[in-house]
Amino acid sequence: MSRIDANTIRYTVSPGGSLHGRFRVPGDKSISHRAVMLGALAEGVTRISGFLEGADALATLDAFRAMGVQTRGPDAGRVEIQGVGLHGLRAPDGPLDMGNSGTSMRLLTGLLAGQAFDAELTGDTSLSRRPMRRVTEPLARMGAVVETAAEGTPPLRIRGGQRLQGIRYEMPMASAQVKSCLLLAGLYAQGETWVREPAPTRDHTERMLQGFGYPVLSEEGWVGVSGGGTLRASSIDVPADISSAAFFIVGACIAPGSEIVLEHVGVNPTRTGVLDILSLMGADIELRNRREVGGEPVADIRVHGSSLRGIQIPERLVPLAIDEFPAIFIAAACAEGTTVLTGAEELRVKESDRIAVMADGLQALGVAAEPTPDGMVIRGGPMGGGRINSHHDHRIAMAFAMAGLRAGDAIVIDDCANVSTSFPGFHRLAAEVGLQLTVDEVPA
Ligand code: S3P
Repeated sequence: MSRIDANTIRYTVSPGGSLHGRFRVPGDKSISHRAVMLGALAEGVTRISGFLEGADALATLDAFRAMGVQTRGPDAGRVEIQGVGLHGLRAPDGPLDMGNSGTSMRLLTGLLAGQAFDAELTGDTSLSRRPMRRVTEPLARMGAVVETAAEGTPPLRIRGGQRLQGIRYEMPMASAQVKSCLLLAGLYAQGETWVREPAPTRDHTERMLQGFGYPVLSEEGWVGVSGGGTLRASSIDVPADISSAAFFIVGACIAPGSEIVLEHVGVNPTRTGVLDILSLMGADIELRNRREVGGEPVADIRVHGSSLRGIQIPERLVPLAIDEFPAIFIAAACAEGTTVLTGAEELRVKESDRIAVMADGLQALGVAAEPTPDGMVIRGGPMGGGRINSHHDHRIAMAFAMAGLRAGDAIVIDDCANVSTSFPGFHRLAAEVGLQLTVDEVPA
């Protein structure tokens, strides 16, 4: 059992209220992970600001410290990383604990496959159930040797000292983690490593590699790298995480009279599916002050309360909103009419089975929510109170917290400690801007 599993935090949300204010949510998780990884492998000192001081990104930082990388911070979002170059990592003394973080585990597996030393990656109960063959199989084709548990799950044992060979790989699922894993392994491979995704996914790895002076190859749906180059240290300003902003965006949409502005949010087009989906539902959302910060588009997002209508969610938006469905399901429950999601079977292998867990929770609140193998059908209508099991999944906990704005009675949410993996301080910020949320620490 990990540190996080040992804590039990319970949220209680009193019904009603609305959201108001101008504020910034914590740094982007995907970009924070990548900044540490590329900073560690670069020549020179990388300075990061806006770093997410949540357990997931800290697990990545700890892993590089354990492999001999000198770091300063985090201190108010600032981290300094003394890069050791592509071949400067040292063997860790023991297994590297990735906690709850799938991104840390899958990206590090690619990177570690190219090292001269052996390494072992472990995770908490949730991560230890998540599928890893999606990375170990293509890595094996490159010549990597990675052992999994019998079901293809962690722990992962990665044998060092292998000569990797570039491959061309057509991914069976739209996954930025798989793509990034292979590109990182590709830095160490002979020749070129190419990946094709069935649909566009977040491209932070590609953007950041270029920001570190590493050429990224592309041709019609394929992206690639040539092994043996050099990364040059860089400065990275991490924007606020649109995946964290999404809870407040949905909260403001569903609570009449709400008016919020979320500052400095990353609006990379591979991440803004949630804005497109909510706009199709009739949301009142405006992007202001659009700008580019360190190779990533950023904007302030203004949201007013409005009435939403149910829609058929276009499948092409699914990978672009993959982490936001817990929040989107709450919006659907508050909309007039029926919302149908298909093509989202990936939700079943996130930190929890987000189709099953969200459907159970919505039903507990009296909402007509029917899970399907690859999505959900939700009929909007009045929502009562009730008790929610978040299954230790941060995004389930935050989504149901926002549901309180439209519930008829109190919502009690169990097992919320993992909110700190992506959004430290969520409950304080939420209460400050209008959610009637209290937090209890309950002995495990
Ligand atoms: C991430 C990719 C997505 C996402 C995860 C972060 C990343 O996972 O769900 O939270 O940083 O690359 P998949 O690539 O498995 O879809």
